[in-house]
Amino acid sequence: MRVSFANPNSNRVGAYVVFCSNEKKLSNSALKLDGETKGALKRALKVSQFMGKQGEILKVLAPPSRNISAIIIVGTGKIEKIDELVAERFGGAIFQALSSLRCKTGFILLDLLSGLKLGNAEFAAHVAYGCSLRSYRFDKYKTKEKEEEKPLLTSITLMLDQVSSARRKFLPLRGILDGVFFTRDLVSEPANVIFPISFVGRLRFLKKLGIKLQVLDEKQMKKLGMGALLGVAQGSANAPRLVAMRWDGSPNSKDKRPIALVGKGVTFDTGGISIKPAGGMEDMKWDMGGAGVVSGVMHALAARKAKVNAVGIVGLVENMPSGKAQRPGDVVKTMSGQTIEVINTDAEGRLVLADALWWCQKNFNPHTVIDLATLTGAIIISLGHHYAGMFTNDNTLGNKLIAAGEVTGEGVWRMPLGKPYDKQVRSQIADMKNVGGRDAGSITAAQILQRFIHKNVKWAHLDIAGVTWSNSDSEIVPKGGTGFGVRLLNRLIADNYERK
Ligand code: BES
Ligand code: MN
Ligand code: ZN
Repeated sequence: MRVSFANPNSNRVGAYVVFCSNEKKLSNSALKLDGETKGALKRALKVSQFMGKQGEILKVLAPPSRNISAIIIVGTGKIEKIDELVAERFGGAIFQALSSLRCKTGFILLDLLSGLKLGNAEFAAHVAYGCSLRSYRFDKYKTKEKEEEKPLLTSITLMLDQVSSARRKFLPLRGILDGVFFTRDLVSEPANVIFPISFVGRLRFLKKLGIKLQVLDEKQMKKLGMGALLGVAQGSANAPRLVAMRWDGSPNSKDKRPIALVGKGVTFDTGGISIKPAGGMEDMKWDMGGAGVVSGVMHALAARKAKVNAVGIVGLVENMPSGKAQRPGDVVKTMSGQTIEVINTDAEGRLVLADALWWCQKNFNPHTVIDLATLTGAIIISLGHHYAGMFTNDNTLGNKLIAAGEVTGEGVWRMPLGKPYDKQVRSQIADMKNVGGRDAGSITAAQILQRFIHKNVKWAHLDIAGVTWSNSDSEIVPKGGTGFGVRLLNRLIADNYERK
């Protein structure tokens, strides 16, 4: 779907979108359309329950006019409450409303904005962004869709006076959007298509944006002593890979140390010998969600030429049972030298991350490390599907993440770390075991990760198991792979780590 900006002009054929305040005051362009349609809008307002609440929608179908197939009225609610996220949600709701019509083109008339905190151009850009975020579809494997099942809507034009300014504001959002879609594509693909080597193939695209790729194969990882990552991979016919993506957007800064993002990339998690039950196992194709987000953030940073030095690391493995698979009770040695007793082969993400995190810190000397992983079912028990679990050794970093979550709508909720939890993963025969029992399952997993974080490194771990996939549509996220984390981390970096 195409979104574009143009000067106001109501003579084009299609469906129109206008705004109406919570005092039921129509925008000027809405009043003009009302005149052109023999009072259809005012009559519709009179006979409906529409109150003009934030994001409320009233569809006026086939008003008396040759050019206009429908007019969609969007409630603004209190104008002073409209921020970027609200604007994006308007965009999503508008996209959905237009999609429900038999029309190819929609025109949004963006007035009634006096008292708006955002500038008009900024408002328009975020409405466009919301439209686009909601328009995502993963339909490449549908070969039998009937014409009427396919999306009809091909373009949305946002009409306002400040066209060039809106285009300028939209440009970086377009970059983030491409990153979000890159992630959603990776997460949506089945595991026979996305496995470690083909995942790397997708990443090669990032070179076009100026990202440098470094790819380690099994042999190189063996040499580095990555026994934990390799232990997970050893049961699979698909070989593992460890990838670093570098974006050096601030080459002349005094402190050249990067911020690092590290993602769990288990391209399929059967559980291994500790095999999962059959029901719902197909969900484990998105157990590479953390790696997907890291790739999407790198895409976004490069696409909008962010002035930051960042490195994205993804640990790519497939967790399978086989005659070669690791067994419960095996002891593996990590690159750090620490040993882990593998009590449950289904607690594999922490094993992959143990080596990926260590390699990241040794090689790239980051000041801050943020890892993302669909790590535990327990975080879904704790937080449902509304927040990612956030664990950190640094209050300031934690607060920055919380703030970035609030403005993007990708919320994180802080969870505790501490000695008593760490004790749960003590092992009789090794430095630690990979599970800590049923209690506090997400926290004990985070404790294991923390054992692989260097002393002076600021670190946060995001458990995204509950937010990577959605079974229902929301305003700017259609059901399926959400891309949760791309907008969050892009914002964290934009607000805190970029050279101005
Ligand atoms: N990938 C799963 C966690 C998961 C579960 C992600 C559901 C998304 C939805 C992870 O590898 C796993 O299997 N974790 C186990 C850990 C347990 C064996 C300690 C879990 O959560 O049950
Ligand atoms: Mn698992
Ligand atoms: Zn897993």
